Amino acid sequence: MKKTLITILRNRNTSIEQYRQATDQLGIVLAVESDALFPKAPMFVDTPLARTYGVHFKHEMVLVPILRSGLALLSPFMRFYSKASVGFIGIRRDEKTAIPELYYNKLPTFTQNNPILLLDPMIATGGSASLAVKVLKEAGALEKQITLISFIASPEGITHFQKECSEVNLIVAQVDEGLDEQKRIIPGLGDFGDRYFGTI
Ligand code: URA
Repeated sequence: MKKTLITILRNRNTSIEQYRQATDQLGIVLAVESDALFPKAPMFVDTPLARTYGVHFKHEMVLVPILRSGLALLSPFMRFYSKASVGFIGIRRDEKTAIPELYYNKLPTFTQNNPILLLDPMIATGGSASLAVKVLKEAGALEKQITLISFIASPEGITHFQKECSEVNLIVAQVDEGLDEQKRIIPGLGDFGDRYFGTI
């Protein structure tokens, strides 16, 4: 499932409708995968016929898309974690140096028990994701409560990120070959945000 959806996203001839649909579907697949990381508490549940055992999440999630591409993952993750609160971190990277810069930060109140899901479909250098983790830590988060969710990562991006943020959980659908001289992921899928938002 992940591979077929990534193939649709990679294809330069994929229409914007198909691109958005594949993004939504892959988002749901990764949301389902992330569920296993988060603690559940037992509870009773009454069906129309009998009382039985069930579970509920011990702590509510905090969803934090990194603007702008991370917004594409917000809708599938909000559907899956329907009680989650949502924060936003805006990071742009300098087109020439690829150095990330924080330009917006609006986080909800959270405790060190709430799992934080950081949403960014592409991990190229790992710089933006590392900066976002730094912002979350400055707001009181522990690395081990953060999970970074991504569609495609470069090997160098993962290495850099894990060096900087060794306790953060990572869920990545596909690790690609590497980066070109403009720090684009190869083979990748081009600019995720431009294709999703139609700004090509
Ligand atoms: N972000 C993208 O959207 N694409 C890349 O190849 C790298 C970063």
